[in-house]
Amino acid sequence: MKYDSILGTVGDTPVIRINRLAPEGVNLFVKCEYFNPLSSVKDRLALGVIEAAEKSGDLKPGQTVVEATSGNTGIGLAMVCAAKGYPLVVTMAESFSVERRKLMRFLGAKVILTPAAQKGTGMVEKAKELADKNGWFLTRQFENEANPDMHERTTGREIVDAFKGEKLDYWVTGFGTGGTLTGVSRVLKKESPDTKIVVCEPPDAAMLASGAPQERNADGSPKTSHPAWTPHPIQGWSPDFIPRITSEAVEAGVIDQIVKTPPAEGMKWSQALAQREGIFTGISGGSTFCGAMEVAKSAPKGTTILAMLPDTGERYLSTPLFADVAADMDAEEVEISRSTPGYQLSD
Ligand SMILES: Cc1ncc(COP(=O)(O)O)c(C=O)c1O
Repeated sequence: MKYDSILGTVGDTPVIRINRLAPEGVNLFVKCEYFNPLSSVKDRLALGVIEAAEKSGDLKPGQTVVEATSGNTGIGLAMVCAAKGYPLVVTMAESFSVERRKLMRFLGAKVILTPAAQKGTGMVEKAKELADKNGWFLTRQFENEANPDMHERTTGREIVDAFKGEKLDYWVTGFGTGGTLTGVSRVLKKESPDTKIVVCEPPDAAMLASGAPQERNADGSPKTSHPAWTPHPIQGWSPDFIPRITSEAVEAGVIDQIVKTPPAEGMKWSQALAQREGIFTGISGGSTFCGAMEVAKSAPKGTTILAMLPDTGERYLSTPLFADVAADMDAEEVEISRSTPGYQLSD
């Protein structure tokens, strides 16, 4: 296939059947967002918000773009800005993984770290301050309608097309901004109304399950951290507030079920997907899959479930996901190495 630029390769990610891990009689599928050019679902958001701002005139040629992001949005934006020629500044809490910062810098972005103690709201405040002070374009991923609109036009459409002529009983997702949730839900509720929408969140940050409202500023941004939020290790999921875009799905009443997925379980499923299916996704992908397996447990035979896998496992080499993966040979590997006559390690 031939493309005019890297941007033409965003979206159209594959839906793949789970063969070895699926409970008997359940049709389990995953939508692998790591097939996007910079390996996460956020490439869609990045392209969607930049092109919408170009169209509306809010983003001028050569203007600096600024955004608060835990990583994947920044990486996607860095790719889009590099391809289109916009400078990019990203604000990011220092608690997020080192490889994310390095990737953004490699793609030409400036990364400004904010104190971990100030959480997600801290990095959002910093991005706003920089935009106001310098006249930069703030993409506002948590409030920008172009985010769910892009998912409505692409992700939602792709899911309906993938299951054309078949039934899809459950669609399972987590939320970061809620762009995926809200955008895809719009399409499913219209074109596949029998599909149940399942949202996963960590037990330590069960904001949607709590039912407690989010306090907001006039522009829709969060005023404070949500009372049900405490820190959790699922990067990209459940920031310390309920984004306005996520609230849109809550208020529309489209969420049929909320599943609390413990991070340790999510990490186990991420590794199981890698080792038993050859599907390589991060902690949030494993956690979404965990939610899908919860649904599958009590589902009747013939049920079809689709889970979103937001990004690649490679983005988590320095995180607890890889904590038990050794760099040195274990006893079995040493034994195998000895079967070669004369084989000697350098040290
Ligand atoms: C790493 C990662 N990126 C992105 C998302 C989804 O993002 P959003 O809700 O912003 O569409 C998730 C949520 O599942 C995620 O875990």
